[in-house]
Amino acid sequence: MPSHDDVLSDITSQIQNESDSTRAMAAVVATLKRRMPDYSWVGIYILDGNELVLGPFEGKPSPHTRIPVGRGICGAAAAEKATIIVDDVNADPRYLACSVDTLSEIVVPIMACSGVLGEIDIDSDRLAAFGAPDRKLLESVAALLAGRMGGQRR
Ligand code: SME
Repeated sequence: MPSHDDVLSDITSQIQNESDSTRAMAAVVATLKRRMPDYSWVGIYILDGNELVLGPFEGKPSPHTRIPVGRGICGAAAAEKATIIVDDVNADPRYLACSVDTLSEIVVPIMACSGVLGEIDIDSDRLAAFGAPDRKLLESVAALLAGRMGGQRR
């Protein structure tokens, strides 16, 4: 298992070296999927009006390409402007299924001063795969991405 700090340091360089926000998001998704064995599906949703629209992702195609704020675990994290960790998705009535193999999920909002810009969504095929080190890593990545996306807000 790679150290979360090593992965954060690689992602920090990737974001610093990529001025285009879409390419930065795709690079982050690819690195998280490749380096973190428990991260089975990694994607970034971008807020468009009152909907989260699926951007770069790695893993099986998801049926949930547009999620209204307030729906699903993704929509709840955007509404609450806070990270949500679900240890057992099948026990959470908010959960919108993407794959039958998914057992746990973490959703981390990407936030600027103006509010939510999007979010990082990660599924795992292991129960309770996400803990404090994952939250710390992904909240740091979200803050870096917010800096990259901020200049391109409408
Ligand atoms: N599980 C999410 C939907 C997105 S898929 O996992 C990619 C949710 O409950 O909002």
